[in-house]
Amino acid sequence: SPRVFSGIQPSGNLQLGNYLGALKRFADAQSSGTPTLYCMVDLHAITVWQDPADLRRATRELCAGFIASGLDPEKSILFNQSQVPEHAQLAWVFNCVARMGWMGRMTQWKDKAGKNAENASLGLFAYPALMAADILVYHATHVPVGEDQKQHLELARDIAAKFNHDYGADFFPLPEPVIEGAATRVMSLRDGTKKMSKSDPSDMSRINLTDDADAIAKKIRKAKTDPEPLPATLEGLDGRPEARNLVNIYAGLAGLAPADVMTQMGGKSFAEFKPALAELAVDRLAPISAEMARLMQDPAEIDRVLARGAERAREIAAPILRQTYDIIGMVGAQ
Ligand code: TYM
Repeated sequence: SPRVFSGIQPSGNLQLGNYLGALKRFADAQSSGTPTLYCMVDLHAITVWQDPADLRRATRELCAGFIASGLDPEKSILFNQSQVPEHAQLAWVFNCVARMGWMGRMTQWKDKAGKNAENASLGLFAYPALMAADILVYHATHVPVGEDQKQHLELARDIAAKFNHDYGADFFPLPEPVIEGAATRVMSLRDGTKKMSKSDPSDMSRINLTDDADAIAKKIRKAKTDPEPLPATLEGLDGRPEARNLVNIYAGLAGLAPADVMTQMGGKSFAEFKPALAELAVDRLAPISAEMARLMQDPAEIDRVLARGAERAREIAAPILRQTYDIIGMVGAQ
């Protein structure tokens, strides 16, 4: 039976890419009637060192971001990865199923470890096996993510398939990535060929969900563009990555297809388009940042939401881990 799972790292500010590529779509999936689980993946965050106080705050702020984006803790299971030990337990099993070569081919590993792989944590290398465990410990079938997670999802399928094959068991479903909509790859506002990211050193490259209206307007006004007006059709955006990105952001925020944005905006100069985009962005994002700030005033309530979510998540994960152990031949799992 279908089940949706996805996760976000509590490692710094949520940015517009997280919202359009993930949170907004999670909220849409919640109303489809399929059971949904959304996880603050703190165990993933510590694959690079995090200041403990910052991690605690970022985890609570992420939970506030989920709720402010429209996720209802009664409808969706919202929880923190480290509070459900079955993730780490299944990840160990998957460390023994996945191959070194598979991990070494991950572009995110290559980008993050770079030339200094000797000095990267072992956890950073094994990261995708933990991600596979996150999904498969619930037998989740659908995983809404941004484009950048596609390769990790393929690896999760490979791990599931190899486990099933090695143990002659038709046990883990092969999870489907769900990468849909206009904004599955939001790019930097300073460079249309680079992904918008919370780790970009330039704050002007991204819109944070905690930015106020002035900051949002300023970042859009200063966003890099070319001198031409917007074309009348999507094809006209070829070779114009910055223009394409702003059109995709507009489409994502407005809930339109990019082609419809061209119908409305084609022929306009950036001097006209940017203020319209800024107004739309402030209109959609300001209520989210206000609600996040409000929720953050009561961290104990956030902690209660996460604890309750973890309890509900464990009810699903524990029996699946037990069956996994039994299939493998662990004594005591029967
Ligand atoms: P993370 O924390 O980097 O990002 C969370 C989600 O936001 C999406 N995203 C973007 N989408 C569009 N444009 C962007 N510029 C952009 N930046 C980020 C990501 O694709 C993701 O959907 N490994 C994952 C977290 C994870 C996970 C999982 C996801 C751990 N376990 C299990 C799904 C299922 C990550 O680091 O995402």
